[in-house]
Amino acid sequence: MLLEALRLRKAFGGLCAVDEVDFAVEAGSITGIIGPNGAGKTTFFNLISRALPVTSGRIMFDGEDVTNLQPHHIARRGVARTFQATTLFGDATALENVLVGYRQRTSSGVWDALVRSARLAREEHEAHAVAHETLAFVGLTDSAERLARDLTQEQQKRLAMALAIVARPRLLLLDEPSAGINADQTRGLIALVEKIAATGITVLLIEHQMQMVMHLCRRIMVLDYGKKIADGTPEEIRNDPAVLEAYLGHK
Ligand SMILES: Nc1ncnc2c1ncn2[C@@H]1O[C@H](COP(=O)(O)OP(=O)(O)OP(=O)(O)O)[C@@H](O)[C@H]1O
Ligand SMILES: [Mg+2]
Repeated sequence: MLLEALRLRKAFGGLCAVDEVDFAVEAGSITGIIGPNGAGKTTFFNLISRALPVTSGRIMFDGEDVTNLQPHHIARRGVARTFQATTLFGDATALENVLVGYRQRTSSGVWDALVRSARLAREEHEAHAVAHETLAFVGLTDSAERLARDLTQEQQKRLAMALAIVARPRLLLLDEPSAGINADQTRGLIALVEKIAATGITVLLIEHQMQMVMHLCRRIMVLDYGKKIADGTPEEIRNDPAVLEAYLGHK
């Protein structure tokens, strides 16, 4: 298993946003997390990406206990994410955005930065090449020099994914990639997620859009009020009375 959550728990005061969740993600898979609003999905991601300290429980990544690592350390080990609300640099070009994503994960260190060594120049060259390659991969070659804020919603989603994959993570956490885009564009994003997974990146996907989860994921976990209420194949999830009740109960 690439990722394991063991009795993972996060409390905000009296509210238990993630409640003793046991869950494992197989390397090479596309796995889904669904659940009503406020179920704890994003909080689960915040724990895995180490943006929030856990209240109790453990997180294992590639067999190692990473429960108390700093966010940049877990990023270095190969965990990348996108956010529910896109967090791009609006006044920078698409290319510059991807370069920021790349540098954050591959900076050559203080010494290189000070002496502007040959290695730094070489890395700059390489960074540009990788950034262009990544923009091509997500279908944004023609938009490389456009400002991020001038891109369409759907292009911004693609750009956010480019930023997340530019440093070749092992695990990619996607928080509702289809939010705010139409059905046609969603099909494009589904294809992109499949393409990312085909390169060997393991994908963990939070998504409200059932069509997307059911199509992409071999396994799905369902959260409700912080608790895991189901865990199985799309077929099993679709026919699970507890899942149906959780969704109907919230409407
Ligand atoms: N930093 C925080 N401080 C206090 N409460 C929080 C914090 N983050 C989340 N919560 C609460 O924890 C619960 C789970 O929130 P979370 O954002 O994880 O849900 P979600 O499943 O991602 O929902 P959505 O589908 O709306 O994105 C909610 O009740 C939320 O209000
Ligand atoms: Mg959320």
